[in-house]
Amino acid sequence: MDIKKFGTWKWDDVGNEFGQFSENGREYIIGKPITPAPWVNYLTNERYTALVSHTGGGFSYLDSPKYNRLTRFRYNTVPWDRPGRYIYLKNNKNGKYWSLTYQPTSSTKYNFFQCKHGQGYTEIILEYAGIRSEVVYFVPAEGFGEIWIIRLENRTSEDISLDVYSYQELVLGNALNDLINDANHKHFPEVNFIKDINALRATSRYWVTNRGVSVKQSNSDWPYFLYFRPSVRIEGYVTERSDFIGPFRSEENPAGIETGQMSCNSMTAGYPIFATKSKLNLLPGEKKSFNFQMFVVRKNSGKESVSDWIKRYRSDERVKDALCNVKDYWSDYLSKFQAFTPHKEADLMINIWNPYQTAITYTAARDAGYYHGGLLFGRGVRDVCQDIMGKLIVEPVKVKKRVVEVLNKQFPDGSTLHNYFPLSGDGEKTGHSDTPLWLPFAVIQYLKETADFDFLNFEVEYFKCGQKDTVLNHIKKAIDFVLLNLDERGLPKLGSGDWNDTLDHLEENGVSIWVAQFLAYILVEMADLMKAIRDIEKRNNYLRLHSEIKENIQKYAWDGKWFIRAINDCGVPIGSSKNKEPRIFLNTQSWAVLGKVAEKQQILHIIEEVKTHLFDEKGIALLSPPYTRVDDHIGLVTRCVPGKKENGSIFNHAVAWFIIACCEAGNGDLAFEVYSNTLPPVVSKNIRQYCTEPYVYSEYVTSRSHSTYGQASHSWLTGSAVWMQRAAMEYILGIRADYRGLLVKPCIPSDWSEYKAVRHFRGCEYQIHILNPHKLCKGKPVIEVNGERWNKMHLPVSEEPRKYNVKVILEKENNID
Ligand code: GLC
Repeated sequence: MDIKKFGTWKWDDVGNEFGQFSENGREYIIGKPITPAPWVNYLTNERYTALVSHTGGGFSYLDSPKYNRLTRFRYNTVPWDRPGRYIYLKNNKNGKYWSLTYQPTSSTKYNFFQCKHGQGYTEIILEYAGIRSEVVYFVPAEGFGEIWIIRLENRTSEDISLDVYSYQELVLGNALNDLINDANHKHFPEVNFIKDINALRATSRYWVTNRGVSVKQSNSDWPYFLYFRPSVRIEGYVTERSDFIGPFRSEENPAGIETGQMSCNSMTAGYPIFATKSKLNLLPGEKKSFNFQMFVVRKNSGKESVSDWIKRYRSDERVKDALCNVKDYWSDYLSKFQAFTPHKEADLMINIWNPYQTAITYTAARDAGYYHGGLLFGRGVRDVCQDIMGKLIVEPVKVKKRVVEVLNKQFPDGSTLHNYFPLSGDGEKTGHSDTPLWLPFAVIQYLKETADFDFLNFEVEYFKCGQKDTVLNHIKKAIDFVLLNLDERGLPKLGSGDWNDTLDHLEENGVSIWVAQFLAYILVEMADLMKAIRDIEKRNNYLRLHSEIKENIQKYAWDGKWFIRAINDCGVPIGSSKNKEPRIFLNTQSWAVLGKVAEKQQILHIIEEVKTHLFDEKGIALLSPPYTRVDDHIGLVTRCVPGKKENGSIFNHAVAWFIIACCEAGNGDLAFEVYSNTLPPVVSKNIRQYCTEPYVYSEYVTSRSHSTYGQASHSWLTGSAVWMQRAAMEYILGIRADYRGLLVKPCIPSDWSEYKAVRHFRGCEYQIHILNPHKLCKGKPVIEVNGERWNKMHLPVSEEPRKYNVKVILEKENNID
């Protein structure tokens, strides 16, 4: 079976007026610079991260965008996307200058613009005044830094003498401090020219990692040096912003470039920058390439690591190899799950952009982005526990470390921090009622992928108290904590919020039906885990607890039409058909199915009700109708304008849960309809209205209740990414990891006659061909492995790496021999 040839597409016709995918889908190519919002890429090796927009904007940080910010991002400003990593050329004959990234000299009449965002790199191609330029930004795997490769071509018939300028604004430490106390922050940076290595070097004599505002000041140095090193000779440099930009000017028309005067001073106070000037001549038709490198070293690592970096990337060849390594890494990463279905945009997302986004969300996008500046909350325990799912398929060892990191945020009573800052180790305990339950969720995902049951006996410390416990006890305690916090009805108290952070003022006696359903889901999952480790007594106990919670949900939350969302402090239901606004919430319908607390008839019924009240061609709204009046006793959701965010937008994270619920209910037609409607390249067709990147999921799309219907926001940092990936791979295509092996349980559109997939799992490779001769959504899978009938549910898995050819025929239930 030649799986590669089946269902392969050319994706270069998928796009909009601003850009489209490359033929093989691996790049998003933007052809017009003035997109409705900056369209961004993340370049990261997990420690060093650079965000780069299609016009050269963005910023960099090491480990923590709050505490170790390297370059500046100007918040809340116009244009939105400044500053960035700028490179300017100046033609010495006529004094004209322009930037090689469109911004910041956007009034230049460029003859050509193109930006290609690929996995791990971004390339910006321009042509102006007969000079074609290509700039490739990437973060190499080794070391802590970034490299910009610049290639120039003289397309005129004249010799051209050029000055090349680079420009970046620096932060050198705590980005929040830099923002709110910049007049003071200006007294600590230092930037020097280090002649013998042709580099500028910056640091700060002050570093603060405390969170709150305090009169008491820290007493430490920023422990790093940041270097900037061109491969061409630095002929002049400037280290302070006003010295380069000049008064009443901006990056668009720096005085330093206009006059060509570089002060060549070391800075010891002011706004630190790296600005360099080099010289270059291009003969007619001549091509030249060079690069700029920016990297961080720890102060106490001495000269060693500076020379390590310089040696490692000393030649064009080595830089090129480092870029190839990044591209190869991603090719290999994406090869671990591939699908070949009858749907073009679904294949594009499933095979390339969705796993790329989930990897980036896991590594960097939760920490900082264009919508979440990386100054406030650090990592959310809840978010981390979900984000691991994408990465797990490819890099379970890394995920295990992250799971340990998050288990370490738990307290001995089973409660947890809600969010934390990995670098400083501090965090916040808020009392969100769902957060502890995400710990068992994460551990269970890890175990299903790896069967590494020894992990359950691994000891992890509780948060800052010196006590340790096994992973198994950690997760049991998390569940016990929630069980101990039930009210007299036997339903979980809502606390200061649940998945919906904006149901945040029901703290007294409010209960969350969604948390009750999520708890029910976790109890079933724990029962399965106990079965896998052969603890039948505990299994039965978790099942008994599940029946109890199910009974309570049925008793207090079924309002005759659907499941209500919560009960407020005074005992009044939230999200009931008897209410004025909102009458229905999406999540308690989806999770009634996922938590196995709804009866069959109820499931069919609620799916219809969701279709009637919440369905939209761009997805499913989170609730309807949205709150129009502020209610102090409910919280932020009621303060948000109708149709946006949690107040009734099409919140993709929750849409993914509904898709999964449809699959669990056997409705593959509806599941795929909703899934395909919400695919970024599909839902963004009216791109001027949609605004954000059409190649990654955004957190939400505004619903019809707001005049900006169809506008998306909060791209990259969203649990939608990982849950949409899961909905597609595990529930629609049905290829799912389980303790005893892979399961194939598809729930597809009934008009699909076949599809194929490749899945790597525990070192083995499965090439799976699914046939649907009877036009079913679900059907009973009849399996052949390597040509022989296979009667078990789980596919075989061997200790040695092996390839399996799997054929699955979806038979009618009564058609099986
Ligand atoms: C954001 C948060 C997530 C929360 C959701 C709904 O996406 O990151 O944790 O569940 O909003 O409020």
